[in-house]
Amino acid sequence: MTKPRILVTRAVFPDVVERLAQHFDVEANPNDDIYSKDELVGKLQGKDAVFTTPSSSMTAEVIAACPSLKAICNMAVGFNNIDIAAATRAGIVVTNTPDVLNETTADFAWALLLATARRVTESEHWLRAGKWQKWRYDTLLGADVHGATLGIIGMGRIGQAIARRSMGFDMQVIYHNRSKVAEHLEARANNARYVSKEELLRTADHIVLALPYSPEAHHTIGAAELAAMKPTATLINIARGGIVDDAALIVALRANRLAAAGLDVFENEPAFDPAFLTLSNVVLTPHIASASEPTRRAMANCAADNLIAALTDGTPPNILNP
Ligand code: DGY
Repeated sequence: MTKPRILVTRAVFPDVVERLAQHFDVEANPNDDIYSKDELVGKLQGKDAVFTTPSSSMTAEVIAACPSLKAICNMAVGFNNIDIAAATRAGIVVTNTPDVLNETTADFAWALLLATARRVTESEHWLRAGKWQKWRYDTLLGADVHGATLGIIGMGRIGQAIARRSMGFDMQVIYHNRSKVAEHLEARANNARYVSKEELLRTADHIVLALPYSPEAHHTIGAAELAAMKPTATLINIARGGIVDDAALIVALRANRLAAAGLDVFENEPAFDPAFLTLSNVVLTPHIASASEPTRRAMANCAADNLIAALTDGTPPNILNP
């Protein structure tokens, strides 16, 4: 019996590719080539499923050109790289990897929050540049994290994990979300209080973005929102590029209209706006919030589990189609 054929669009852990190869005829990408749209479409001809990552654009056009496809299994919780409506119309199952990355991503949000508020990377650059000549009362003064008000936009499982960690810093948590979350979850999330977006922007000392990208979430933080924030506030984005208007953020950071930002994601990444590199009040990381060894491995195995289930019994655990 011939095995179903699958494409793995980017390099992934070799043992996960071997696992898939026990079930399928796998075309892998060990050199991690970045396929153009036409190459992707070409490679997907005759394939039954595709293992994707956030950098694989499964647009309506690509989907329409790949009639043999039955499943798209994304190695990420975010899925803005896939046109779910087009896939659903084509009868293609789409899956993601929720939950396995919540805690690791929340850890990293805190790494960025602390680094941004306390100017950790800026201090290191300053020291490496030989500028440390003497102790001064006002060297690299930052903002306090303990006792401050943490504002979280997007109170899903990652937002809640970020909020739980704030207990150790004696913080007050306010949040904004599509809807208020259940009271027992608010209680676990350091008694987080639901507020309007306007109140959050006006009163939070540190704002963390943890919402999924959708067209409605595009530029959730733009010029008007940045102007509404405290000038001493920090902004952390571990969600998706496009949720923040990067051009407006650059203008605001340059004018010190907010204290600092910590960004793990960017519009048009990895070709982010080079103006960020000219600013000292921003901490920049390359989309690594979920990048611990165990978590990335768990994500890869979760995507593989979804793919195996999709092509065997048709019931993968993490279906995204409505
Ligand atoms: C996700 O899972 O959506 C992450 O952003 C991938 O690193």
